[in-house]
Amino acid sequence: MKMFHTTLFLFALLFSCTSHAAEICVGDLKGPETPSGYTCKNPANVTVDDFVFSGLAKAGNTTNIISAAVTPAFSAQFPGLNGLGISLARLDLAPGGVIPFHTHPAANEVLLVSQGSICAGFITSANTVYLKTLKKGDIMIFPQGLLHFQINAGGSIAIASVSFSSPNPGLQITDFAFFGNDLPTEVIAKTTFLDPAIIKKLKGVLGGTN
Ligand SMILES: *[C@@H]1O[C@H](CO)[C@@H](O)[C@H](O)[C@H]1NC(C)=O
Ligand SMILES: *[C@@H]1O[C@H](CO)[C@@H](O)[C@H](O)[C@H]1NC(C)=O
Repeated sequence: MKMFHTTLFLFALLFSCTSHAAEICVGDLKGPETPSGYTCKNPANVTVDDFVFSGLAKAGNTTNIISAAVTPAFSAQFPGLNGLGISLARLDLAPGGVIPFHTHPAANEVLLVSQGSICAGFITSANTVYLKTLKKGDIMIFPQGLLHFQINAGGSIAIASVSFSSPNPGLQITDFAFFGNDLPTEVIAKTTFLDPAIIKKLKGVLGGTN
């Protein structure tokens, strides 16, 4: 009898939670983005186009220092994702292209190779390396917060779709964190054991000072 009551209580709790949760909360991009997302657009003004995004059809521009492009479909670009706990992006890697070491502080990532070949890897907090050359159709997982990278492993363009477990995964590229700002060279040398001449050179390439 007690168990029956407990079960009933759990059902009641579940029902009250689900019935109060909004099914949709299309982001109002006119308002600020907070850690919990955007405020909801007036439901009367929501249309099917809020749930359709065509921005990943087009190749990103890979004429840059990394010969690669990341085209996001996060809630800022695709407001229909707001509040749903998911997002996507498109990776284009020209021959020789690389997405340098980076982390997504707020999301797990799943990568699906749709063209070419990509060498990808991540490193756990125990410093174990998981490294694999992926071919078309392969999928690889990159757990939340871990350092990872992707390199074009073939002689032609490589394309991948990535999915995230957050509408706003965050992105921190390690090279830019170290060499793309005004962190003093002597502090970087002390904390990374790198030669100051190499640090100055990388700051020059990545737009850093000091
Ligand atoms: C919703 O659409 C109506 C009619 O197009 C417009 O007058 C109103 O300002 C819109 N409301 C919001 C919150 O955008
Ligand atoms: C790609 O980016 C480069 C460098 O910013 C620029 O010169 C070029 O015009 C861009 N190409 C296209 C097709 O937008």
